[in-house]
Amino acid sequence: MSPTHELRAGMVGMGMIFDETYRPFFEQAHSHGFYSPEYGACRVRLAAVASRTGTRAERYIEQAAGRLGPIASYTEPDAVGRLLEGTEVDFVCVATPDDRHFEAARQVLSAGKHLLVEKPSVLSLEQLDKLDRLARENKVLAKVVYHKLLDPDHKKLRTLVADGLLSHVNNGYCTLLEPKMISGSQFAQWIRGRNPGTYVAVHYIKLIDFTFGGRLETVTCTGQRGLVGPADGDTWDSTQLRLTYRYDDGRDATFDIHTSWVTPDNFPGYVEQEVQFRFDNGVWNGHSRKRGVECTIEGKTPYEIKISMNNHYNGTFIEPWGERSQRGYGIEVLERFAREVATVEFGGPREERAARLDRARRLTYNDISADRQTVAAVQAMETILARHAAGQPNGVVQVNHEAGGLALWLPGASEPEVLYAGRV
Ligand SMILES: NC(=O)c1ccc[n+]([C@@H]2O[C@H](COP(=O)([O-])OP(=O)(O)OC[C@H]3O[C@@H](n4cnc5c(N)ncnc54)[C@H](O)[C@@H]3O)[C@@H](O)[C@H]2O)c1
Repeated sequence: MSPTHELRAGMVGMGMIFDETYRPFFEQAHSHGFYSPEYGACRVRLAAVASRTGTRAERYIEQAAGRLGPIASYTEPDAVGRLLEGTEVDFVCVATPDDRHFEAARQVLSAGKHLLVEKPSVLSLEQLDKLDRLARENKVLAKVVYHKLLDPDHKKLRTLVADGLLSHVNNGYCTLLEPKMISGSQFAQWIRGRNPGTYVAVHYIKLIDFTFGGRLETVTCTGQRGLVGPADGDTWDSTQLRLTYRYDDGRDATFDIHTSWVTPDNFPGYVEQEVQFRFDNGVWNGHSRKRGVECTIEGKTPYEIKISMNNHYNGTFIEPWGERSQRGYGIEVLERFAREVATVEFGGPREERAARLDRARRLTYNDISADRQTVAAVQAMETILARHAAGQPNGVVQVNHEAGGLALWLPGASEPEVLYAGRV
């Protein structure tokens, strides 16, 4: 390929998700690039990475030598700041632990670079407002990765809803159970004070928000402790979140989202995901194991190879024509973002860039400005759990209450506490 365009990328965070999805994306987008009639061929080059210690970065740079061109590695302190000063990049992906997204994202947008941040984008609406403002001021994109929206099953669900074949959702549940190794080793370094809801329930918050529309009305949440941390501490083993939405016809729907990261490591689901949505005229059932395959290989599953593999999300394959590949919607979602950046930068005359930027910003599946209700639910959940850990359980957050955009009611209080004053 002789590319006519090149996008230079920065990567912040070199952990599990880098290895799973960003690494194959960068490798493919470097070797094959992508094409659009709007701008021709475009290649992506990973130019620099930032991480806490640089250990995994160094290992990757060594492995990738000769294949990806030079990659600069920056480590703490101020890894992101030094990356932005030291290496020319067009966009930066942020995949740090979720309570460290905001600061890295703020620096990226302030430097006038396009941003792609892992879910949940940020943990409060105040942070979201700041990022949205910076993106507008600096005329760049700020996008969030919600790969489950690209899952073919979820696309089908949304298509049936959009076409009116499934009418008016009334209620539903979603569960996602992660094995103990996630809380016990993978995330052990940053897990204190955290919960599995923010990290994974957020996939379903977004799915519900994006698929069914509606206005978020109330948020409640409870959870259990005692395995990852002390029974009276602020680190959660499992959480149960409930969201109520109101629709234009004046009717409500309520959704329960249950998550855990303390399920036994050898349970067959490994990452068990199930959803059920009930409509006026139908029921949608999705189950990660029932839709897929179960494979056992002595001495390998479920640790090295998963029993229920999700070959739609991300799989390594030998293609029928002999080529080895790694593909799936977890990687496709990253390429979509790069294509959106390429359209903005190369998809027509420079003087029409603002119109192209505006069109890309109107894509509500990933634009940060469309993440308000999801971030509101996350902020409410985090606050309810924090108050619970501090001895005040069973809070309820009302959205767009007359007192404020996020109003927290604790049992016994006569006035709500306003968590966010503006409208959600
Ligand atoms: N899309 C998905 O399916 C998916 C799956 C897993 C994780 N995630 C998201 O990706 C993010 C990272 O998760 P992970 O599983 O890769 O975590 P991880 O703990 O494996 O890796 C985190 C990385 O961030 C780096 N880091 C931490 N603090 C930093 C800082 N201040 N500056 C620069 N780098 C810093 C660490 O060095 C490490 O490389 C989280 O937001 C998580 O929610 C998404």
